[in-house]
Order: sequence, then C-alpha cells, then structure tokens
Amino acid sequence: MNRWLIANARVVNEGRIVETDIRIRHGRIERIDSGLTSRAGETMINARGRYVMPGMIDSHVHFREPGLTRKGNIASESRAAVAGGITSYMEMPNTSPPTTTRQALADKFSRAAGRSTANYSFYLGASNDNLDEIRATGPDEACALKVFMGSSTGSMLVDQPETLAGIFEHSPLMVVTHCEDAPTIERNLAAAIARHGKDIPARAHAEIRSHEACLKSTRLAVDLARQHGTRLHVLHLSTAEETALFESGPVAGKQITGEACIHHLYFIDADYETLGNLIKCNPSIKTMADRRALRQALRDHRIDLMATDHAPHLLSEKTGSYDSAAAGLPLVQYALPAAWSLVAARTLSPEQLVEKTAHNPAIRFELAERGFIREGYWADLVMIDEDKRTIVDNQPMLSQCGWTPFAGRKLPATVAATWVNGHLVWRDGLLTGVVPGQKLEFSRGG
Ligand code: DOR
Ligand code: ZN
Repeated sequence: MNRWLIANARVVNEGRIVETDIRIRHGRIERIDSGLTSRAGETMINARGRYVMPGMIDSHVHFREPGLTRKGNIASESRAAVAGGITSYMEMPNTSPPTTTRQALADKFSRAAGRSTANYSFYLGASNDNLDEIRATGPDEACALKVFMGSSTGSMLVDQPETLAGIFEHSPLMVVTHCEDAPTIERNLAAAIARHGKDIPARAHAEIRSHEACLKSTRLAVDLARQHGTRLHVLHLSTAEETALFESGPVAGKQITGEACIHHLYFIDADYETLGNLIKCNPSIKTMADRRALRQALRDHRIDLMATDHAPHLLSEKTGSYDSAAAGLPLVQYALPAAWSLVAARTLSPEQLVEKTAHNPAIRFELAERGFIREGYWADLVMIDEDKRTIVDNQPMLSQCGWTPFAGRKLPATVAATWVNGHLVWRDGLLTGVVPGQKLEFSRGG
C-alpha cells in the first residue's frame, strides 16, 4: 500500500498549477510526468478536478505532551493534523516540564517516535536563566528557539532586558517570538476590571491584549534582531500596525520574517458575541481592519508564513468567566479547509496559499527535502477538493479536547486525502491508522 500513482492531478507547486501525474515509491516522489501508466503493485487514484499540493508544514502548534495531556497528546493531535492537511509540524515548549533543556527536547523526540502520524520537530524554549543551555544546543537539535516576550499559557516569560539581549546575541538557533508587552496588558486588565468588575465580557480581550501591547513588543523584537544580527521570526501577528514593521520580498535571504495564524485570518472581534471565550487566545483576535491588513500583508509578502497556533484546552477550561478561561483554541483539524477561505475570497491564489503553508516554512526553517513537489523529495501531499465543502459537524472529532471553534460551519473545501512519507493517512473523512511520522531533518550545514 505504499506505492501510489496519483493521476490527472492539478498539481499546485512553485507558483504554478500543472495537470500531471505523480508516482510515489519508497516514501518519496519518484516521478512527476503526464501520461504515467499504472504498474503492478501500485494503487492508482484518479485526482481529476482536484488539487494536489505539498502538505502544510505547520511551524506553530501546542500538542501538550508531556504534562498537559488532559488537553491533547502527540498521537491524538497529529491525527487531527493530517485530517486538516498538515503533514509536518513544529511543536512549542510550554509543556510541563517546559522544554528549556536539551534533555527535555530529547525526551519529546523520543515520545514522538512511532506515535506521530505527521512529521515532527520541537522548539527549545528560552527562560530567564537557560542561556548556557541555549548556547550548547546544536543547529540540528531543535527547529528553532521560542521566546515568550509576553506571558501566556505556562510561565515562560522572558522579560529581563539583559537576558533578551543575551539570547538575541548568542542563540545558535533562529529566534521565534511571541510578542505582547506584559506591563501594557497588566494595565489594560486593571482598567477592564475597574470598568466591568468581575464580569469582563469576552470581547474586552481585544482591548486587554491590545494593539499597543503587540506593537510595542514586536517593535522591541525587531530592534533587537537588527542590533544583534539575529535571525528572527515573529509569531502570530495580529494587528495592522505590526505588519508595517516587516519588509516585502521573498522569504529566502530575509533576516526577519513574520507569521499569520488561521484564527486571526478567519475570525474577527464580532465573533466574540457568539463564540465568547472559545476564541479567547493570545494574542487576541482583533478587528475586521486588522484581519484585512494581515491578509494584505500575506499578499504583498510582508508576512511570509501561515500556521495554526493549535492550542487545545478542555471545554471545561474555556467556559468559565473571562479571567478563568484558558487562552487558545484547537485548529489543526480544519487548517487547510479554513485557510481555503482566503482562496475562496480571492485573497490568495492556491499557489500563494501553498507558498505560505509549505514552501516558505520549508525555506525558513531550512528543512531537508520537504515542502515542495519535486522528484526525490518526501511524498508529503494533500489532495484538496474545492467542489466539496467541509461540513464540520459531520466530521469525527479528532482533537482530544473534543470541540472545535468551527462547529456549525461549512468550510469552502475538503482535504480529500493526505500522504505522509508516501503513506496514505487520511482519505474521504477517515484516518487509515498508519503512523508514519518521522523526525524532520534540516539542511543547515551546521
Ligand atoms: O492563546 C494562546 N495559547 N497563546 C499562547 O501563546 C499559548 C497558547 C497555549 O499554549 O495555550
Ligand atoms: Zn502558540
């Protein structure tokens, strides 16, 4: 079952859409050509009318293992990921214990081996006191270094100016930041409590985790990177103002890059009225004007990558009052169907979507042999049917937390099939049960 001929596909790759056939063998793309004929031992899939693209490389997920496994784990969340068209992911360090040592990193890699349906890598996390550990980490030991320049789930805030300067100066890994200024948020929260008392409405989150908090922290990260010559990638940009800090141009060769996440591109503040704290997340979902600016920045190449920031919490952790509700939402299972709303809105072409979800993550994180449909590369592929909407309520609930912010919705395309390392893992709404995920390798020459 590991030899496939995908025939008559509209292959979306490297800025073009070409109708052709793809032969998969030994986990890799063996041949891309039109008129290939089926061989013995090969399973043929007629992809006519459907797009075949490189699977999404989601460089920003929280899978909760170890220590927070009531919310999710590597096995459950990686299954949900392939249903959403994600074939590789990079997972964040705010677990318990946090991934702030090389030992904790090694533990995560061994937990994922044999249990992950998608390919995987893990971030090393920065803290106020692990600079020695960061400096000792080899360039291939982690996908990058995560720095929380603003506290969120977990307690990994790095707020000492000299610590930040040391990290930006000495990190052997690309620095990836969560930017929200904590003192600004504290002040805004105090003002919201003074105004609303105990009953802070969910929509106030956008003013508490404000534009100003994001802009101030993102500006600091960009300034530090310029000062120290650091490779910097700023996560989940959420405001129009921040997009102005990024330069347009191809991702290759950029020193500073930015990410936009599905929920900031899909929801707006009006959605707090119906979804309440279910869409509470950090940074907050902001206004229609912000969403428009983020979409525009993707189009004009100031924002280079799209990711999910999949951050599952139990419903019981989301349904209390504003201050007790956890920040974050599960997203991987609907990643490409929700992202396709940008294609449906003509904000991005399918080629541009593939650039943001597959090519650019592969380039930015220097992944070896993934992120493109090329002969010899790993066969990490998705087949998208844009004539069939995803009716969310008809889907199995694959994230362990058991809920989705997309409940009741129809998303504009379906993930008809997903292959990871040449293995079919998802087809027509069902997991195949194969667990072929491998550790991501880098081409960093380090
Ligand atoms: O909303 C968020 N949830 N933002 C973060 O930075 C962390 C994440 C989580 O881990 O729950
Ligand atoms: Zn995150």
